[in-house]
Amino acid sequence: MTDKKHIGFIGAGKVGFSLGRYLMEHHMDVSGYYSQNPKSAQEAAKFTHTKFFEKLDDVVDKSEVIFLTVPDHAIKSVWEALKQHAIQGKIVCHCSGALTSDLFSNIDVYKAYGYSIHPLFAICDKYHSYKELSKCLFTIEGHKQYIPYFKDLFEKLGNPLQVISKAEKMRYHAAAAMASNLMVALASICENQLQMCGFSAENAHQALKPILLSNMEHIVHLGCVKALTGPLERGDIETVKKHLHVLEDNDALIYKGLSKALLSLAKQKNPERDYSQMEALFK
Ligand SMILES: NC(=O)c1ccc[n+]([C@@H]2O[C@H](COP(=O)([O-])OP(=O)(O)OC[C@H]3O[C@@H](n4cnc5c(N)ncnc54)[C@H](OP(=O)(O)O)[C@@H]3O)[C@@H](O)[C@H]2O)c1
Repeated sequence: MTDKKHIGFIGAGKVGFSLGRYLMEHHMDVSGYYSQNPKSAQEAAKFTHTKFFEKLDDVVDKSEVIFLTVPDHAIKSVWEALKQHAIQGKIVCHCSGALTSDLFSNIDVYKAYGYSIHPLFAICDKYHSYKELSKCLFTIEGHKQYIPYFKDLFEKLGNPLQVISKAEKMRYHAAAAMASNLMVALASICENQLQMCGFSAENAHQALKPILLSNMEHIVHLGCVKALTGPLERGDIETVKKHLHVLEDNDALIYKGLSKALLSLAKQKNPERDYSQMEALFK
């Protein structure tokens, strides 16, 4: 069933390039690309060995599945334009993690089917990110008609697929943003703190590499509870107090907020320990 449908892209950016190439490498039928800037669509078509579509009509005509891989703020206007074409029976998807298929307003009237399909991955490079997509989970939300089609497609690709409800998408995306973007912020805070201790920017960056990488490995392989170490887990309250004393306003707030979350992990790890004083510190 999956191989018969031609998958076309509107929006030749990082996700359009990567998903298209990934699908092609797995022998799926990618029809080609239409984009705001024809040069981007031409480049994507060349990269994926598919067609360049000059007009929106062409991608609609040549595809049964249409991915709108445009920035979140542009999905609505592209949908408004797409509605003017012969989309009856088409499967229309966007890739936003935060938005739902409700963005495809009145899609039932057009007898088409809407989905949001989100790769839980930071796709940062048009030309190389596709190589990493085999590791990535996708979430899907939308009309029940083609959920089995997508389950079959992702099974063939070898990627886990998680069905998610519309109501939970924003919470899901907040979690994704914390796992991805906010980790970057935390790493940057640590680099800045080391620079305040006299490290050069380069040394600060290099110094953190082993601890960041090994910690990620521990989280991934052992789970959060087993990965946990440090003064809070040991109950060294004086050290934690001194940390809070030396950190500046925003960094101290972040330290406190994350420590509250850590406390519940520490309690799970050491149910026999009394963390009540530590708890009081973070109130
Ligand atoms: N990057 C990620 O890590 C990631 C991960 C998961 C999900 N997503 C989602 O994937 C979607 C695309 O993100 P992205 O990172 O690929 O963005 P991107 O790299 O900025 O690419 C978006 C492309 O859309 C084209 N575009 C913009 N407005 C358009 C319009 N009105 N009509 C046709 N094409 C238009 C632009 O192409 P031109 O060059 O032609 O102007 C641009 O290259 C978003 O919904 C995003 O939330 C991204």
